[in-house]
Amino acid sequence: AWRNEPDGKVYGGYYSQDDIKEIVAYAKKLHITVVPEIELPGHCMASLAAYPELSCTGGPFEVPSIWGVKKDVYCAGNEEVFEFLQNVLTEVMELFPGKYIHIGGDEVPKDRWKDCSKCQRRIRNEKLADEHELQSYFIKRIEKFLNEHDRQLIGWDEILEGGLAPGATVMSWRGMDGGIEAAQMNHDVVMTPTSHCYFDYYQAEPSSEPQAIGGYTTLEKVYGFEPIPSELNEREAEHILGAQGNVWTEYISSPEHAEYMAVPRMIALAEVCWSPPDKKNWNSFIRRMENQWPRLDAIGVNYSAAVYRVEIKPSYNDTNNSVQVRLKSELEDPDIRYTLDGTDPTSESNKFDKPIEIKSTTTVKAGIFKDGELKRLPSEKNIRFHKAVGKEVTYTYPFSEKYTAGGDFGLVDGLTGAIYHNDGCWQGFYGSDLEMMIDMESTQVISTISISFLQKMPTWIFMPEEVTFYSSDDGDNFEEIATIRNNISPEKKEAVIKEFKKTFPEINTRYIKVRASNMGTCPDWHSGAGNPAWIFADEIVIN
Ligand code: ACM
Ligand code: ZN
Repeated sequence: AWRNEPDGKVYGGYYSQDDIKEIVAYAKKLHITVVPEIELPGHCMASLAAYPELSCTGGPFEVPSIWGVKKDVYCAGNEEVFEFLQNVLTEVMELFPGKYIHIGGDEVPKDRWKDCSKCQRRIRNEKLADEHELQSYFIKRIEKFLNEHDRQLIGWDEILEGGLAPGATVMSWRGMDGGIEAAQMNHDVVMTPTSHCYFDYYQAEPSSEPQAIGGYTTLEKVYGFEPIPSELNEREAEHILGAQGNVWTEYISSPEHAEYMAVPRMIALAEVCWSPPDKKNWNSFIRRMENQWPRLDAIGVNYSAAVYRVEIKPSYNDTNNSVQVRLKSELEDPDIRYTLDGTDPTSESNKFDKPIEIKSTTTVKAGIFKDGELKRLPSEKNIRFHKAVGKEVTYTYPFSEKYTAGGDFGLVDGLTGAIYHNDGCWQGFYGSDLEMMIDMESTQVISTISISFLQKMPTWIFMPEEVTFYSSDDGDNFEEIATIRNNISPEKKEAVIKEFKKTFPEINTRYIKVRASNMGTCPDWHSGAGNPAWIFADEIVIN
């Protein structure tokens, strides 16, 4: 129940049986059934730290202080594992009277099972084809035990791999496909795809939000969810029990913050679940929410008002070297006012009605007004013009197709990334260095160069080991300007942006080369050990 943190603190806690009874009884009064999730055969490091003999290697293990998928899982060839889990589940069933017991089943690396003689013996003795069928064997055994106690197994969609347990209900999280497949096999399904149902994802422009795990799932996006996919016929569709919102708390440390992530998105999801698709109406939903905010205020819910924030969407236009800024809102006909001089917008400020064209360094601030009043805080974005904006860039190694920052102009478009790896402003390099040459078209006088990198260690994104700037007059012979070494520990858990910046006496030059060296592979202690590491760069600013 406790783990050691790198800062020397101990983190953790647990519910006693009495606590659980109190929670279950309270929920029951509100007609809510609490479904426990007892994760197996993976995501069990806390359990293996206490009982290392239940792993394939014997350990020892520490409870990890970093979230992620871990290679050490329960040994599927060891009878003691099943005895242990059955004892745990027996205790759990006594505490939770509901029909369903969630057994997890997601994100189970097969590495240890491949190397374990006991697991391999099990595969041979049970005539299983591979480790996926071994996972299926594991889940089926647990299902049989639960069924013997009149309970029903529910698990994440990975339990489809290697063969679904006969009576299992599937929670489809990696998209809708697992749920569709299960329903077509006459299994019940709860839809909870990351695309619409992960309330630990950002709900608004990340630079204005508390740090979240990633994603971008606005209120309108949740409201637009349709839990019954069109691929299913009427009979199969009967198997979709409903949808679930998830609030994982890797980046959430207080109940108030959890509320902020869940409300109002859970209200939108509730309406989705009880409404036939043709009765849903986004504008009507928002109008009705106007009556709900005061109620939420009255009962002290820390909800998010992100739906009243303007999303500032800049895009670089290489035909005239400008940045086009759109101001977006999910509200019907919003009165959006903006400024370009750094002051807060008022009801008298310019009204947004068409994309704004920007050709010099500018701070855009925008807000939504109603009856002359700003609805919530204004949003803000800086567009930075400098000597490399719109200039031709040549890459030695390609950037990832998933993280392009907009393409070849991505690092010279005046746009900087927020502390959020998929905000569209970061360019990613997977396992390779960044090396690029910028042709400023004519000789320029310059005295500073900078480039920023994002580190988000649990997402396999690390700082480059070092960044070197070079200059050249002819694009062939380069002279080093400076090398800046990284000083951010790769073990740092929080996301961080570091600007690698060098100021130097003025030089005349036309070409600049930037080299940032990727550490190559994730370090030994990391959950991605041995796999390629990412580096994520944003704007190269030359002045
Ligand atoms: C999950 O988010 N791993 C179910
Ligand atoms: Zn094993």
